[in-house]
Amino acid sequence: MTATLIDGIGLLATQDPGLGEIAWAALLVEGDRVAWVGRSADAPPADARVDAVGRCVVPGFVDSHAHLVFAGDRAAEFAARMSGQPYGAGGIRTTVDATRAASDEELGARAARLVTEMLRQGTTTVEIKSGYGLTVRDEARSLAVARMLTEETTFLGAHVVPPELADDPAAYVALVTGPMLEACASHARWVDAFCERGAFDADQARAVLEAGAARGLGMRLHANQLGPGPGVQLACELGAASADHCTHLSDADVEALASSRTVATLLPGAEFSTRSPYPEARRLLDSGVTVALATDCNPGSSYTSSMPFCLALAVREMHMTPAEALWASTAGGAAALRRDDVGVLRPGARADLVVLDAPSYVHLAYRPGVPLVAAVWRAGRPVV
Ligand code: NIG
Ligand code: FE
Repeated sequence: MTATLIDGIGLLATQDPGLGEIAWAALLVEGDRVAWVGRSADAPPADARVDAVGRCVVPGFVDSHAHLVFAGDRAAEFAARMSGQPYGAGGIRTTVDATRAASDEELGARAARLVTEMLRQGTTTVEIKSGYGLTVRDEARSLAVARMLTEETTFLGAHVVPPELADDPAAYVALVTGPMLEACASHARWVDAFCERGAFDADQARAVLEAGAARGLGMRLHANQLGPGPGVQLACELGAASADHCTHLSDADVEALASSRTVATLLPGAEFSTRSPYPEARRLLDSGVTVALATDCNPGSSYTSSMPFCLALAVREMHMTPAEALWASTAGGAAALRRDDVGVLRPGARADLVVLDAPSYVHLAYRPGVPLVAAVWRAGRPVV
């Protein structure tokens, strides 16, 4: 196995609590893993050496919430919103029509393009949801497409009730928890539902998550995005890995998150793109809640694939410190996916890292919109 030393790292932000941030650091890659990290002066011998010329190195971003399998475009809906139209969950149906009409090849090519776009911006792990098919066939093929691109796939048949069953939501929940789950479970690691007024109520979301869990899927939940509701407390009660959005929270919601293992995944791209108030990250962090950041990349509410953009929003608009925002974008995302092999640079972790064209990760927020990703390594190999 070849050992490659990445040397001359001006600042290595490991995200490991014991290792912390190391100035003038080096990192040894062996195979697909990190073999050693420490001060450059203490570096072990290696077969090859790469000079980071004083740049900052951070773990590859872990984008734990994205909807990448879709067709169509909703730019007109965005433009209308910027002129004052409100965002509503109903727009999802526009994408459902386009997705159903698209071939497997088109869906696969479009999702792959987005994954490549993410990789260029430093994302080395991405979760991909279904949810724009809403028939047994279209959900199953959406997940088959997702499975070719990531191991973190999520069955979101319970995104909205499709128009053909609008009069009979109970029948749709029965379809999701029965034949659709049956067809999708083998392609999915997770089950999710959109628990929101206009989508699914707490009983329906519970039925979907419990059915998925009975098939061996982990649970996550879209909760409290557009208004207050029961989603966050349901996610915590069920022991879901993550409650996502968390924009409208009561004190009891914050307490439930703080006393559970459920990560609060904040998606500021959605508030940016729907011109809505941002989630209260400080309130969550100061209460001891584990916070992750993710893009929510989707054609309706947040068509960004950029973790650096979300991190900058979190710092500027949600009062997270740059260090908190970096942790939430890497180790926090990993926690939301119940992973300890990514989102951190320590011996044994997967060698997924980003070399920033900057002396410090603070520049990710300080220089928003600037392409600072100089190189990306995934599983021990340079990919960008
Ligand atoms: O996470 N909240 C539900 N689903 C997506 C939006 C989907 C859409 O508008 O197409 C979200 O924001
Ligand atoms: Fe989402």
